Amino acid sequence: MSKVQDVLNSRRTVYKFTEQEVEQDKIDQALLAASNAPCHKHTHPWKFFIMGKQIRQELIPTITKLAQQKSQKNNSNDLARDVQRAVNKIVLPPVIIAVASKKTPDDEFREKEDYAASVCALQNLVLSFWDNGIGSQWTTGAITRHQETYSALTIDSTKWEIIGFVKSGYPAAVPKVNKLSVDEISVYFD
Ligand SMILES: Cc1cc2nc3c(=O)[nH]c(=O)nc-3n(C[C@H](O)[C@H](O)[C@H](O)COP(=O)(O)O)c2cc1C
Repeated sequence: MSKVQDVLNSRRTVYKFTEQEVEQDKIDQALLAASNAPCHKHTHPWKFFIMGKQIRQELIPTITKLAQQKSQKNNSNDLARDVQRAVNKIVLPPVIIAVASKKTPDDEFREKEDYAASVCALQNLVLSFWDNGIGSQWTTGAITRHQETYSALTIDSTKWEIIGFVKSGYPAAVPKVNKLSVDEISVYFD
């Protein structure tokens, strides 16, 4: 198998990272790979917001609020622990990149195609990281959709949709996942 095939097939979502910093040139490579994703009509509908320490701190009040709401809804008996876990999820990953896709409210098909293109860009980003030994988790939790996140990142929610946060870092562990076999997902016609 070629290196590319191996990268495609071995990638797994990584949930736990080591504290090792991700080098800027690896981030640059990943963003370059993202920028080379296909997009119909050359709309380049994607934007990447690399979230440093300060912007993450700014989101902590929103994360706390969301964690408290979830905790209460689930009748949790340890609110403080739930909040700390939620805060850790935004503070600990070595890299967090918010990925936004252009909205086109007056053209549903264009918006759908642009979303598809942005997902290709996101996956290119993730695969480039993986090729460099860096794991990623694509997340679409409530924080990625909250208006206060758009405000903190100065993203106009009428023009852009945050399609997720990509959290990346050197893997502390790589999970095993069962996928459907090729036979199960393909249909050949003569
Ligand atoms: C659109 C999308 C949204 C996702 N959102 C989350 C998420 O919010 N939290 C999470 O832990 N994983 C999320 N994931 C990762 C999936 O859970 C993961 O891809 C799945 O478990 C399969 O594992 P694999 O990526 O290792 O193949 C998301 C994946 C996709 C494609």
